[in-house]
Amino acid sequence: MTTEAIAFDLYGTLLDFTSLRERIYLLTGNASPFIETWRAKQLQYAFAASLMGRYLDFDTLTALAFDYAAALHRASVNPEERAALVGAWSELPAYPDVAPALAALRERGVRLAVLSNGTPSAIARAVEHAGIGRYFEALLSVDDVGAYKPSPEVYHMAVERFALPRERIGFVSSNGWDATGAAEFGFTVTWCNRSGLPPETFGAPPARIVASLADLVRE
Ligand code: LAC
Repeated sequence: MTTEAIAFDLYGTLLDFTSLRERIYLLTGNASPFIETWRAKQLQYAFAASLMGRYLDFDTLTALAFDYAAALHRASVNPEERAALVGAWSELPAYPDVAPALAALRERGVRLAVLSNGTPSAIARAVEHAGIGRYFEALLSVDDVGAYKPSPEVYHMAVERFALPRERIGFVSSNGWDATGAAEFGFTVTWCNRSGLPPETFGAPPARIVASLADLVRE
């Protein structure tokens, strides 16, 4: 990739939230469906919050989505377990391909940022915990605009921070809808298709599709 600056989505792109499976197993045998519900509801609430003009921060939506998943999957959870699991979004491991790819991009002089739905403190704690904080010159949170991705004003934060025209900024996400939103905005988008999903059928396509971040830095 020849872009001089790249913004990365965080959850699911750099950090592996499916790693919560082992902790969820302690609550319910249905750990994978539970996590799928939790993530889907978390994103659905974020879309709804933006559309309704009723912004609540991502930690709050993650907790509300957790309650929904617990009800659907009939998991009984005490308040301490709930708080610990919501807080665990700040303690997720990076995918193994992430640190080598970020290091290679920095070696080439590419400027890097995170652009995430997460709260500023959750993003900061998460990248430090995952050992990848040093690669980023900025950690951009939707909290600063009070709307969620794929609202254009969220992507605009990277334009302001990098002080570059949008077409010279790369954007990498494993979330198809996020890649679409960023491509519609005008970024040069790489969709990191970690799960081998079919391409989105609505909206602007990504410039590039890779299976992992190792492919992102392969010439
Ligand atoms: C984020 C979510 C969308 O990090 O994965 O913004």
